[in-house]
Amino acid sequence: MSINDALGFLFQGYTPSVILAVLGVLLIIRQRLAIQLGPQEPPILKPRIPYIGHIVGLLRYHSAYFDKLYTRKPVPIATLPMINGKVYLITDPTMVQAALRHRNLSFEPFVLEFGQRQLALSDETMAPVSFAGDEKAPSFLHEWAKEIHGAMAEKHLNKMNANVLHSVALAVNGFGKTFELDSLFYWLRNTMTLATTDALYGSHNPLRFDNSLVDALWDFDGNMLGLLLNIYPSITFPKAYQARTKLQDALIKFYSAKHDLEPEVSQVTKVRAAILRKQNVSDVDIGKFELSLLHVATANAIPTLFWHLCFIESDAVATATIRQELASLVTLTNLTSGRREAVIDITKFDTHCPVLVSSYRETIRLTNGNVGSRRVMEDTVISDGKKEYLLRAGCDLMMPACVPHFSETAWGPDSASFDAKRFLTPEERGDTSAQARAGDRERKKSYFPFGGGKHLCPGRNFAFAEILGAVAVLIMGFDVKGGDGGLIKVPVLGRSRIGEGIAKPTGRGLLMGAKIARREGWEDVIWKFTC
Ligand code: HEM
Ligand SMILES: *[C@@H]1O[C@H](CO)[C@@H](O)[C@H](O)[C@H]1NC(C)=O
Ligand SMILES: *[C@@H]1O[C@H](CO)[C@@H](O)[C@H](O)[C@H]1NC(C)=O
Ligand SMILES: *[C@@H]1O[C@H](CO)[C@@H](O)[C@H](O)[C@H]1NC(C)=O
Repeated sequence: MSINDALGFLFQGYTPSVILAVLGVLLIIRQRLAIQLGPQEPPILKPRIPYIGHIVGLLRYHSAYFDKLYTRKPVPIATLPMINGKVYLITDPTMVQAALRHRNLSFEPFVLEFGQRQLALSDETMAPVSFAGDEKAPSFLHEWAKEIHGAMAEKHLNKMNANVLHSVALAVNGFGKTFELDSLFYWLRNTMTLATTDALYGSHNPLRFDNSLVDALWDFDGNMLGLLLNIYPSITFPKAYQARTKLQDALIKFYSAKHDLEPEVSQVTKVRAAILRKQNVSDVDIGKFELSLLHVATANAIPTLFWHLCFIESDAVATATIRQELASLVTLTNLTSGRREAVIDITKFDTHCPVLVSSYRETIRLTNGNVGSRRVMEDTVISDGKKEYLLRAGCDLMMPACVPHFSETAWGPDSASFDAKRFLTPEERGDTSAQARAGDRERKKSYFPFGGGKHLCPGRNFAFAEILGAVAVLIMGFDVKGGDGGLIKVPVLGRSRIGEGIAKPTGRGLLMGAKIARREGWEDVIWKFTC
């Protein structure tokens, strides 16, 4: 059983019979659980319940389990005994940053193993993308990542930004004087899924033609770990299974019709399909495979947008400050129709909106549950500057962002609460002392919501433009209040489930209503963006 099978077991839902079955299997293979540990390897961190405790802990608490472990024993690095051996847990930010960039530590096995399970791909379909590289050529995934980064930069990025925000503008310009939402979360999820997929797929966006695909996408996302488990998923996780089939069928039609060749389609969509076609992957398999693009482009950014809007709107002072900042990049012109046009220049966020940008990074700090994963390809030594540790080939590393993201050393005693100005730079704060700069460096090191190294999320600049653009227009043009007409209350924010990048609201947070009204003095405005 590989670690991924084990993780698959761990992290699917809570069906008691499944858990019991897992525990049974674990007891049977108990004799195989004793782990070998060399003297230079990270010290062992034993679970409370022998052998299976870490698994049970993760099953029960998801990424909050890492907080619990760290509170119990705040060590920079540890060896966790797991089902099939051991996994290294790194919490020290210096070693995390080194590990994310280390060439002996690879992300690729995870992409392949998770991808195959998540997308239900045959070994045959996986063959061309599994090429691991040789003396003559780098691995398929190395080239793939490089091409994707290029396809999401500069003019290609600008085009995607313009397209996503064009759809956002259409949605908000469609509002009447007031607009009531039964659920702010579901409204944002729906609107932003459509806007993002417009940017990815152009005028043949399959989700525009069949709106039920939006819910299908989030059903697929919601049971990801059940799919990774991959044990008769059509029976064990029928909703996610059917959603996946439906989405893949729609994408198969899109790629079979060669809609990706149309000019308004994003470069990243085009490049990925083109690379696969060059490897003689069929359009059917491209459709199946590219559910991964649809998923990564929506799963993290959209919940982040929800939290960002809630954090700002729940705080009247932050809202007023950010409105003032935004006023400096909105241009108003009179239209011949008698109405006015307001244009938001998204290229000026970094220079004109320090608190808006800081509050975005702060939202990500609090909500991001990225568990960085790498596999040790060769015996490797890493160091935190005090001590060296040996990582043995074949083992996996886990680097949960939640521990450094909440560290009091880096962020201070109020590390668990939202502070819109926390990410202001020393210059923006007007304190450029050596101490302020050192604090800033420590915080940067302790913050890795987008991973790092050559797999650093290529979508981060798109997410920045999309999220800040949408938040800007909602804050500047509208009053966004709770369902009762008062300030928005930020829903309870838990830690993310394993396999989920961003914690989502739950229970009443999912159903939190909102009243949106055009802001006084801005009633006649038609919104637009320049990128
Ligand atoms: C707030 C939003 C987002 C967050 C927090 C996020 C986070 C991440 C993380 C943690 C990784 C893994 C990197 C590593 O382990 O080193 C990743 C990879 C990736 N992300 Fe994002 N992401 C976001 C938005 C997006 C968007 C909008 C897109 C595309 C439109 C995207 C596309 C990708 C792709 C293609 C990869 C794989 C990169 C590779 O394997 O080299 N992401 N993202
Ligand atoms: C793809 O198919 C063409 C024609 O059958 C062949 O010439 C080419 O070598 C194939 N490419 C790969 C990467 O298999
Ligand atoms: C737009 O119209 C308003 C009122 O009708 C007027 O005061 C203002 O000067 C006009 N602005 C421009 C740029 O023409
Ligand atoms: C990386 O792996 C190579 C073997 O391929 C090994 O010689 C080297 O020491 C490793 N690097 C580190 C920093 O441990």
